[in-house]
Amino acid sequence: MANNIQLPRGTYDVLPEQSAKWQEVEQKINELCRLYQYKEIRTPIFEHTELFQRGVGDTTDIVQKEMYTFQDRGDRSLTLRPEGTASVVRAYVENKLFGLPDQPVKLSYMGPMFRYERPQAGRTRQFVQFGVEAIGSKDPAIDAEVISLAMEVYRSVGLKQLRLVINSLGDTESRISHKEALIKHFEPRIDEFCGDCQSRLTKNPLRILDCKVDRNHELMATAPSLADYLNDESRVYFDGVKSYLEALGIDYVVDPNLVRGLDYYNHTAFEIMSDAEGFGAITTLCGGGRYNGLVEDLGGPESPGIGFAMSIERLLLALEMEGVEIGQASDLEVYVVAMDESTKNKAFTVVRDLRMNGISADMDFNGRKVKAQMKSADRKKSAYVIVIGETELESGKVALKSMATGEQQELEFEELAQAILENR
Ligand code: HAM
Repeated sequence: MANNIQLPRGTYDVLPEQSAKWQEVEQKINELCRLYQYKEIRTPIFEHTELFQRGVGDTTDIVQKEMYTFQDRGDRSLTLRPEGTASVVRAYVENKLFGLPDQPVKLSYMGPMFRYERPQAGRTRQFVQFGVEAIGSKDPAIDAEVISLAMEVYRSVGLKQLRLVINSLGDTESRISHKEALIKHFEPRIDEFCGDCQSRLTKNPLRILDCKVDRNHELMATAPSLADYLNDESRVYFDGVKSYLEALGIDYVVDPNLVRGLDYYNHTAFEIMSDAEGFGAITTLCGGGRYNGLVEDLGGPESPGIGFAMSIERLLLALEMEGVEIGQASDLEVYVVAMDESTKNKAFTVVRDLRMNGISADMDFNGRKVKAQMKSADRKKSAYVIVIGETELESGKVALKSMATGEQQELEFEELAQAILENR
């Protein structure tokens, strides 16, 4: 036998049992997007590499270490998207959505993203993000709306052990004065830090605070906090977001150390963590924030935006950790058993007729004995079973048996669909 080919490291197959869970989550998300009026946008899986360099930021781990970048046959540098925001903002600019009369434009997306990361529980190289972006408003109420939608997704699937962490990264002015303070703080002893931090010092010193290698260095604890450098405007904006969250009854914790790993953020930054026991090192379910200026950076007019993204994988992991079962319901309504080859033809058309009436139906395709077929119906948790033998063929009548109650209803073949629909 030939060597088995296995899937690439950091990827996974979603088998049908697990797919049922995905579908239930997707349905809930779609319904929430409808309620909140976020309309779906679909962008390409790959983009020009430059989009992420400019959009996500040259100094971020994502761009420096994690992108799947390749040259195509026309010698263009392309990259499998590592996240959705840059693409959505590109599409907003490219399709001139800023010209629509109703701003903000509220968009949602769901699809695979790719990052070359070290795989572990809750971290894969291909993962599916659901995200939203509201572009064209700088009203703290939209920040609170976006955050509440994210929380609502988790609530709707039954998660309870959640923690919302928020912070303000301030506007450009606040960030510049904080940046200067950080450089002053770290510069004299920067040679004690890792190479990444050394290059971050002048480019993006805020990211030093996010460093996993040097997190225990004594200068970390005493580093100037952004909160002390927020100007009045930024402070007022953040107070606005908090008061809208309070109006919605959404609990939050302010963490001045929450900086997020992408360059486009300012003002509101937030993450939703799982407090469920058994979660590994990674407890962040969802991350997002405001990105005023990104639309301009990508060539559009001033259009402030905010959004979030969450992976479905981590949501499912959280469900497992909290012991919440979803996607269990069987969707098979009728299993049609044929007694033997001579009645199989009838069974085959009955199955088709039921399906034509919008009823899910299935049958055996392996010539198995009646007993084995009944077992199959049981395993598939079919709501009903009908058995078709010579007697049924002759009389034109069949017993519709409910698997839950064992009750039987004698019906003409023609009455089957109607009876099932009425019993639903
Ligand atoms: P991010 O924090 O890089 O932000 O990722 C958001 C979420 O994507 C994470 O909280 C996590 O649920 C999921 N995620 C990221 N990497 C992985 C991975 N390797 N495996 C599994 N799940 C992962 C962004 O992507 C921003 N675009 C969010 C945003 C939208 N900000 C504004 N708008």
